[in-house]
Amino acid sequence: MHLFKGKIVKYGITHKIRGMAQDDQFKKLVSHCKEYGFIFQSSEIYDGLSATYDYGPYGVELKNNIKQYWWKSMVQMHENIVGLDAAIFMHPSTWKASGHVDAFNDPMLDNKDSKKRYRADQLLEGYMEKLELKINKEVKKAKKRFGDAFNEEEFRSTNPRVLANAEKHETVRVELATAMTNGDMEALGALIEKYEIKCEISGTANWTEVRQFNLMFSTQLGNIAGSESKLYLRPETAQGIFVNFLNVQKSTRQKLPFGIAQIGKAFRNEIVARQFIFRMREFEQMEMQFFIKPGTQKEWYEYWKTKRLDWHKALGTSPDKLRYHDHDNLAHYADAAVDIEFEFPFGFRELEGIHSRTDFDLTEHQKLSGKKMQYFDPVTQESYVPYVVETSIGCDRMFLAMMGNALQEETVPDAKGNDSTRTVLKLHPALAPVKCAVLPLVKNKEVLTDKAKEVYNKLTASFNCQYDEKDAIGRRYRRQDAIGTPYCVTVDFESLDDNMVTIRERDSLKQERVPIDKVRGIVLEGIDMGSLF
Ligand code: GAP
Repeated sequence: MHLFKGKIVKYGITHKIRGMAQDDQFKKLVSHCKEYGFIFQSSEIYDGLSATYDYGPYGVELKNNIKQYWWKSMVQMHENIVGLDAAIFMHPSTWKASGHVDAFNDPMLDNKDSKKRYRADQLLEGYMEKLELKINKEVKKAKKRFGDAFNEEEFRSTNPRVLANAEKHETVRVELATAMTNGDMEALGALIEKYEIKCEISGTANWTEVRQFNLMFSTQLGNIAGSESKLYLRPETAQGIFVNFLNVQKSTRQKLPFGIAQIGKAFRNEIVARQFIFRMREFEQMEMQFFIKPGTQKEWYEYWKTKRLDWHKALGTSPDKLRYHDHDNLAHYADAAVDIEFEFPFGFRELEGIHSRTDFDLTEHQKLSGKKMQYFDPVTQESYVPYVVETSIGCDRMFLAMMGNALQEETVPDAKGNDSTRTVLKLHPALAPVKCAVLPLVKNKEVLTDKAKEVYNKLTASFNCQYDEKDAIGRRYRRQDAIGTPYCVTVDFESLDDNMVTIRERDSLKQERVPIDKVRGIVLEGIDMGSLF
């Protein structure tokens, strides 16, 4: 996210962007989310519960719109993809079969002096990020020194300091990937020692050994004691889809290839949960399992890679902020995996994963349950366990990405033509929490407020509207800008005679006088999700 960077002039508005450090941008985003009722810390009155958050009145609207955009494009616009809403609790054998009981671990270690707990892989990734920063700093310095004559490609491939750091980066990357793929905790500990990585709090390298930590939360079923009754909160929604594969296929008479999609909560006991809603212990996933004929997985993997990136771009997200990142070490179930990364305020991070999961899950469920998980192919007259390509996106991460993209500070002319600053949330209108605000020009004239309420009541059945009569009109516009409302409708004294109102567009600030009967149509056209597909 580049909240305040550069200076863009568009529609006569100057987007003045402060040279804010990324940390400051992020703090601003977090406080905006709280101040305007998007996100609150969970159980805040008890000082909060770490890595859990509540969505406020505008947050829940934005989140629902994100889910709707996903559901429409994935389910309703695909004849061969259907929906599901499986329970969070599943039979404990599910997690044995899926490999989560044995392999859903993160490598953790503690610093003996600060008592702070870390993920070993993240410490090494942090070290790699520092190397990248050093390289970028060299490049920036040289760019400044050489001006227009600077050839970045040549510089990166010849400068000895850049080359040395790039080589070191690659060495660490390979060593980390090897240790993670082999689940070798000792090797991870050795790497942390080799690169003299220190605790950010104590500044020491006084580490415990690296050990595996299972990320699943567990609880008990009813009042039965013992391992028999141990239940897990699902760490991914996907398994609810796998175990229902034949129920869905038979009841909907789908033929391969077909998909099952689901939106729902997932839970992970993350060792290091920070960066606001980026990494939470309770979060929401939007997942789709696409069941295919074995041997066609490469083709479908490529198809969904492209399709999902296009889904992000359709929202107007700049392609510069999105990139693919192939997995260095594959999860136990995958034969290929890629992340779609987004440039968050703290750098490029995973937003969505596309995984070629082979027939691993269905085969393991078949083995443990003793029930056939096979599909009878009417074309080849054979029965086989299908392969699966999965798309999996975190709803909360998508929320954070959209908020980060949208939050801007601009200099705009005020009513007298002087420069004034506004904070505006330039969300795509289809995602905006409130679509239209209805504002009487002044509040203490009943004829005007009655007329404005009449307009408001005409619109509420069609989209989310807000009626606001408090404060001066300029302040009310600013409040709507800050929550991303694409349209404001102002009712003034002339409206009483001519039945017309002024409609103001959030981004261009264009104001137009239109008949009241036309408002609904104008707003509906502007917020139409269909325009995204
Ligand atoms: N079924 C495959 C799966 O769960 P994953 O890469 O572990 O794959 C998929 O998770 C997506 O879920 C991620 O790309 C991310 O957007 C989201 N996600 C994962 N862990 C999360 C967490 N602790 N907090 C918020 N979102 C998370």
